Amino acid sequence: MNPGEQKKALDAWETSARYWDKYRALIAQMFAPLTSGLVEEARIGIGQNVLDIGGGSGEPSLTISCIVGPTGSVMYTDPVAGMVETAQAEAGRRGLTNIQFRQCSADDLPFPDKTFDLAIGRLSAMFFVDPVRAIRETLRVVRNDGCVSFAVWGPKEANPFFSTVNDVFDRFVESSTEDPDAPDAFRFAAPGKLAGILENAGAKNVIERQLNFQIEAAISFDQFWQLRTEMSETLREKMAGLAPAQLPTIKQAVADAARRYFVSGKMSFPAEALIVSGKKSAV
Ligand SMILES: C[S@@+](CC[C@H](N)C(=O)[O-])C[C@H]1O[C@@H](n2cnc3c(N)ncnc32)[C@H](O)[C@@H]1O
Repeated sequence: MNPGEQKKALDAWETSARYWDKYRALIAQMFAPLTSGLVEEARIGIGQNVLDIGGGSGEPSLTISCIVGPTGSVMYTDPVAGMVETAQAEAGRRGLTNIQFRQCSADDLPFPDKTFDLAIGRLSAMFFVDPVRAIRETLRVVRNDGCVSFAVWGPKEANPFFSTVNDVFDRFVESSTEDPDAPDAFRFAAPGKLAGILENAGAKNVIERQLNFQIEAAISFDQFWQLRTEMSETLREKMAGLAPAQLPTIKQAVADAARRYFVSGKMSFPAEALIVSGKKSAV
């Protein structure tokens, strides 16, 4: 990405920040299995000193703050000011005192070597500008043998929470040609891709686990539609380019495709993610 593209990407996250704040309770609930997967994989427990990379509206920092307790600490990081503000405000509302907040990119972490016991990132690694550099940075700031662990989405076809909407939009609005290495939610969906990057960055004992779970919440299709079309920059852009008459047709086509995931007032989508982890080598 050139500097202009990087700025555009960060501006898009800045616009997204208010929606990630608006839907924070739902996001926490829907993606809780990813947090549990990271906590389990990185063996996060009482008293640890944890770095969260790309913490968005506050997860998994807010959850991990309660797990590590008063003898532990969490350093939340995100390059987007709006995300940092909303996450910090929520920590204040909850009276959490063991979290600190820093606005920074994974490519350039403002911490001395070996500051943290471990580092995690939930749904952020796929947006790193230079993933090898970012993971090298992450390894630099964890102690020897410390774990770095990232949760990323698996293939589009296994994630109808996204594909039921995106596939319909793609039929109506032309998408720009996809660069498989450009920042995107599915950039690391291919098995082994992020694991290879961890190895290139110098991590040892790299492992990749597939996590299958349900994205669940007690919301209607209309609430799902609103959440998806507000939270995603790609969809916001596509909506802006539509003729007003097209929108009801698209929404109806998505409703038809998504019907089986909404039963008895509840949304439940099958989902697939990868948890990719490695350790900092002592040398
Ligand atoms: C999909 S959101 C995930 C947020 C949160 N971790 C969660 O799971 O709810 C991706 C986050 O990555 C952040 N991000 C984008 N580029 C980044 C970078 N270069 N380094 C670290 N985080 C980045 C965005 O600002 C955004 O908050």
